[in-house]
Amino acid sequence: MCGITGYIGERSAVPIVVDQLRRLEYRGYDSAGVAALSNGVNVMKTEGKLKILEQLVDGAFPESQVAIAHTRWATHGRPSVPNAHPHGDDSGKIVVCHNGIIENYLELRDWLQEQGHVFKSETDTEVLPHLVEEYFEGDLEAAFRQALSKVRGSYAVALASSHAPDQLMVARQDSPLVIGLGEGEYFIASDIPAVLPYTRDVLVLEDGDLAVIRRDGVTLTNLDGSPVERQTLHVTWDAAAAEKGGYAHFMRKEIYDQPATIRDTIRGRIIDGHVDMPDLGLHEDKVRALNRIYVVACGTAYHAGLVAGQTWERRLRIPVVVDLASEFRYRDPVIDERTLVVLVSQSGETADTLAALRDAKRHGARTLGIVNVVGSTLAREADSALYTQAGPEICVASTKAYISQLTAVYLLGLYLARLRGTLTPEAEAPIVEALQRLPDQVAALLQKEDEVVKIADAFMDCHDFFFLGRGMDYAVAQEGALKLKEISYRHSEALAAGEMKHGTLALVTGDVCAICIATQEHLREKLASNIKEVKARDARVLAIARESDPDIHKYSDWAIRVPDSLDELMPVLAIVPLQLLAYYVARNAGCEIDQPRNLAKSVTVE
Ligand code: G6P
Repeated sequence: MCGITGYIGERSAVPIVVDQLRRLEYRGYDSAGVAALSNGVNVMKTEGKLKILEQLVDGAFPESQVAIAHTRWATHGRPSVPNAHPHGDDSGKIVVCHNGIIENYLELRDWLQEQGHVFKSETDTEVLPHLVEEYFEGDLEAAFRQALSKVRGSYAVALASSHAPDQLMVARQDSPLVIGLGEGEYFIASDIPAVLPYTRDVLVLEDGDLAVIRRDGVTLTNLDGSPVERQTLHVTWDAAAAEKGGYAHFMRKEIYDQPATIRDTIRGRIIDGHVDMPDLGLHEDKVRALNRIYVVACGTAYHAGLVAGQTWERRLRIPVVVDLASEFRYRDPVIDERTLVVLVSQSGETADTLAALRDAKRHGARTLGIVNVVGSTLAREADSALYTQAGPEICVASTKAYISQLTAVYLLGLYLARLRGTLTPEAEAPIVEALQRLPDQVAALLQKEDEVVKIADAFMDCHDFFFLGRGMDYAVAQEGALKLKEISYRHSEALAAGEMKHGTLALVTGDVCAICIATQEHLREKLASNIKEVKARDARVLAIARESDPDIHKYSDWAIRVPDSLDELMPVLAIVPLQLLAYYVARNAGCEIDQPRNLAKSVTVE
């Protein structure tokens, strides 16, 4: 997804905004550009990676203390230099970087063309600088306000202009934007990690906010011009936490962060052996009165939701429906004030998840976000936020955020069950103990990396992978298949193992690898039959099984043993070798692991 950065201060602005862009690379992009103010507006743009932009701008700009920059992930108009941001007006005096979608851009463009404006790109964004130019009569801020009032859709926008060379302007509607507060200098960014090397004090803009930023301060108003106040967020993450820290890729670093991630997610939430989360504001009478729960999310977060669906329904004894946000928002689900809608999201900015949240709120549901990014839209708009404490996740493919979501799901399930009276303290105690053992168990599992490396080597000639499982293992199979396909580009799909014989078995030959997740004690024999079905058709079989499984090695070609835990907690352990397997297959294939093609970390448009 696109990234915006900006700087105003005493330092040389261009190297700073490009460095900031680097810290947003994880959002995914296909082109990039910079605009700097100094005796006019200078702009440089390129397709492809930031390396190219860095070479282009090196020494090419006159010295400047005010700049904006952008990485673009194409939505309207293909990836190309003309479509890359910043976009300018006809006079070349106004430049804009934008994230989001301007829904009425075609009608605005027609009107602007009638007024004589000439467009150079296919983007929706380009209407913005032309609108500002159209309305400019000496007061840039007034023109910016008027332009935004004509726009329908979502935006985070940064504007620089030689009409007012001592300031930057930004505005936000449905797309994230923060301002890092320095001493006599300010940093604009789409996301907090991009300002962390420079400052820990951050203003998180809310929808409808417009800020005018000068070296001596920030003036914050709403679109009508009335002053608004936002609290400064002091960010405690270490900037180094967002760096690779010695690993070749963020993905492997983040896989290795996972024991700490589980500990951080649990920390402070278990009091005297019981889960307690009073800050969620969930009252016993309301939780007892719940008639159903929806769990709604996208991508990996949805796969964490699948685990929630199984464990919560069993424990809470009410229907728990898990849905993809892109489906949920359009299917008119049955929701009333006795419904709890739980939205799971790493970024808290996924457009479909936010739309589902707003829909649920409109229907009167209580909403709860399981979310990683503090200050994100989901965290702010949901009735309560359960933070997953994974820290910044940089690799586009999610690993530690998933583990933290699973941990949060277990904690919330236990807490809700206690409030509903379906879990006694005696029954809760061993589950809490098992949960607290998980960090050490994951750390022990990471010691088996060498086994995974060998298996990945053996799989390099395979291009079709089927991930099979039942119950919780089926949820893990879906996440395992997603990891492999998104970073290694190998065809992989997950199947409920009992469904194989209803179609997919027709595809099974000696060219196929079957990855069988076999951790659920109560389904062990059923899954064993399914493994034998694919083995009988010559598939190569890798099993992920418990250390205690007595005979998995008899009917699989390879078996990775994972530590024993409760059935419901096994997804935390089973996913780790699958993450490593995806990593090594992708690495062997020479793929760009942290930034897979066509994918974005945070999908803030529909
Ligand atoms: C993108 C990312 C995935 C992520 C999904 C949902 O597709 O590449 O890793 O799971 O969005 O994102 P969210 O921030 O809502 O968890």
